[in-house]
Amino acid sequence: MFVTVLLLLVTLCAQKGNGEERAEAQRPGHVSVVIVGGTGDLARKYLWQGFFDLYVNQVSSGNTFSFYGGGLSPADTATPVLFEILKAVSCSRDVSQDRCALLKEQYLRLAQYRQLKTLEDYQNLAKHIEQELQQEGMTEAGRLFYLSVPAFAYADISEKINNSCRPTNGAWLRVVLEKPFGHDFQSAQVLASQLGSYLKDEDMYRIDHYLGKQVVAKILPFRIENKRFLDPIWNKHHIERVEIVLKETLDVKGRISFYDQYGVIRDVLQNHMTEVMTLLTMRLPMNLSSSEEVLQNKLQIFSSMLPLGRSQAVVGQYQAYKPAVQQELNKTKDHVSLTPTFAAVLAHIDDAQYEGVPILLISGKMLDERVGYARILFKNDIFCLQNHNSVHCKPKQVVFYFGHGELQYPAILVSKNLFKPYLKDGEWKEVTEHGDVNILGLPISDYYVQTPKEQKEAYSELISHIFAGRKNSFISTENLLASWGLWTPLLNSLANSFPRIYPGGADNGDLLDIRVKGKDIGYNSEVVILSPDQIGGMSTNGFQVMQGKFRGGDMVSAWAEELVERLAADIQEAAEAAVHEGGVFHLALSGGATPLALFHRLALHHFSFPWRNTHVWMVDERCVPLTELDSNFHGMHDHLLQHVRIPYYNIHPMPVQLNHRLCVEEDGGALLYEKEVSKFVNGSSFHFVLLGVGYDSHTASLFPGSRVDELGESLVAFTESPVKPHQRMSLTFSAINRARTVALLVMGKGKHELITQLSRVKDNPGKWPVTGVKPADGRLVWYIDYDALLG
Ligand code: BG6
Repeated sequence: MFVTVLLLLVTLCAQKGNGEERAEAQRPGHVSVVIVGGTGDLARKYLWQGFFDLYVNQVSSGNTFSFYGGGLSPADTATPVLFEILKAVSCSRDVSQDRCALLKEQYLRLAQYRQLKTLEDYQNLAKHIEQELQQEGMTEAGRLFYLSVPAFAYADISEKINNSCRPTNGAWLRVVLEKPFGHDFQSAQVLASQLGSYLKDEDMYRIDHYLGKQVVAKILPFRIENKRFLDPIWNKHHIERVEIVLKETLDVKGRISFYDQYGVIRDVLQNHMTEVMTLLTMRLPMNLSSSEEVLQNKLQIFSSMLPLGRSQAVVGQYQAYKPAVQQELNKTKDHVSLTPTFAAVLAHIDDAQYEGVPILLISGKMLDERVGYARILFKNDIFCLQNHNSVHCKPKQVVFYFGHGELQYPAILVSKNLFKPYLKDGEWKEVTEHGDVNILGLPISDYYVQTPKEQKEAYSELISHIFAGRKNSFISTENLLASWGLWTPLLNSLANSFPRIYPGGADNGDLLDIRVKGKDIGYNSEVVILSPDQIGGMSTNGFQVMQGKFRGGDMVSAWAEELVERLAADIQEAAEAAVHEGGVFHLALSGGATPLALFHRLALHHFSFPWRNTHVWMVDERCVPLTELDSNFHGMHDHLLQHVRIPYYNIHPMPVQLNHRLCVEEDGGALLYEKEVSKFVNGSSFHFVLLGVGYDSHTASLFPGSRVDELGESLVAFTESPVKPHQRMSLTFSAINRARTVALLVMGKGKHELITQLSRVKDNPGKWPVTGVKPADGRLVWYIDYDALLG
């Protein structure tokens, strides 16, 4: 059968075939396409059409194809369903009717349904492919598996593919996956490592269908083609703000069992909108077709993002969501879901180019219109004295319009008072005939408008990229984890937040308008519509900061967020007092996870903190290179130091690496740090020392049973930890207890038991190291959140 089909195709061919892609694709030969979940919704709507488009484009390329729809159902029931779907595919306008009919007929003849349930089914499929190849005497180019199935099935199917369907003789294997790729950083990591044991990174194509949208795919080429105009203005001096917006009118009826676990942030912000943000802001690659360079430049954006916390987001939920959840999930009338269906998030990239530029990411269901766009609004640097309507007084913006909305077609719009964008002769054209529409504050005639000559479906585009092996329009494991790394802390901090309830559609009015306040975001109107069950939940949040005593020291207690606010304010107060008194503030900070929220608070809210006069010291360090994630300095740098204006020479990392080796006693690292402390810090008495407490009551790197109380007068020592990395460098009690103020920060339910024990035990630093913290002439303050205090 293949021979006849091949002959037909060769004679048919001529018209199409994208030369560029063909050049990139590996050696021509036979390609087997397997859509697992081949009769599902996505396959029905987009995938079979996408593969038909590929087939039409590749007909003359020397490649041949076979298509398999796979699924759990037996072949006799699923085959007719598959063929119904296949019959509905269509050709683009430039294909004649006769040719289209012929191509469709071929496509149908090349397709078949196969049950793919057990390992044996996959083995049989592989056998079938190999037999056909042999019978027809064809070389194999590759096998493409599109997993259009729920994510929980990915690992199992990938294992089966790996065990039985890997091609030999240099042919490629490509496995395509759809989101969700995890639920948060940790689950994404687990999934990635499961997949990693069956598939190589190069085999995996993680789809984000936004990267296949023509306008989104054009962002980088547009930025490169118009570099001459954009370079001088694509920075913090000219950009007022960036808005990435996806408004939808639909609700989530019918998919609540999925949606209720995800919500709008996981559903679209973490992926589609983050991708758009990185394309808009990443450093331009030298070579656009180098996937490695593109993905690497994207990755860099994540490392310069300011952290996202509760003050960087507002959330909402449409009113009809709650009853829909109760119905679809079989819940009672008092069940409340906090899942947001609307979110607005304020992000910042903290580097020299974009520092201070607000980046808004906004999306929601049940809004007034369906539209998606990314707008770069420029500052208006012209002062108009009289004629405010003249063209140079109008807003200046570049809009990447994904589609729908007023315009109804995808386009790139550039305000005429900005520049006339370059138009490469090719797949895009300029639009000069306009209807009477307004786009984001300007009549369309005030823009230069470019649109694709032919509109193409995102999935068709991406399928052609998969076939060509172009990885830059897909999500790499590293990028995926970096994105979850950005979003997970925000998702955690929002876990108990009540979304603002909105009626839906045009009735939302200005209820969801938002206001940017420095680095924070809030709803513009203060109207809070609370349902009775929300009021119930509010009462616990009503607790304010409480003062008391703990183990003979002062204690401040509050819910985590207020506690961190209070501690940050106290540190600033101590800093101002010290600077006022002696011109310098010496602050020693602990590492680990607990202080991260404090670092974020200091970085995002304390703009008048006297960083210029502050010296930052370390309470302890792990014996690993400073560049490693494990290093306390690394965390301090990423979450605090790189975001504040502190002089480099005021930063004092612990010298754990000397002579190219880690924490070797004879290299004298501890002594070196001690000398540095004595030299800079008056009387070696830090103004403020921030400590935490571990579950075993260790503080700094002073662990139970390690003779921590016998370190004598030395200020810094090498110590041993029972957990990896074992070797540590730490301030001693002698150094800590000379401080003016020591703060002990304890947060989280997990620390409740420890706090209860500590409230009872006597001082015994050998067993309970934290009880050795007793500033001789200074103050000890315990900052304990309600979770740790009350359990
Ligand atoms: C999907 C989300 O990934 O993207 C949907 O799961 C959302 O909830 C959709 O509606 C938006 O995509 P588009 O292409 O319609 O803008």
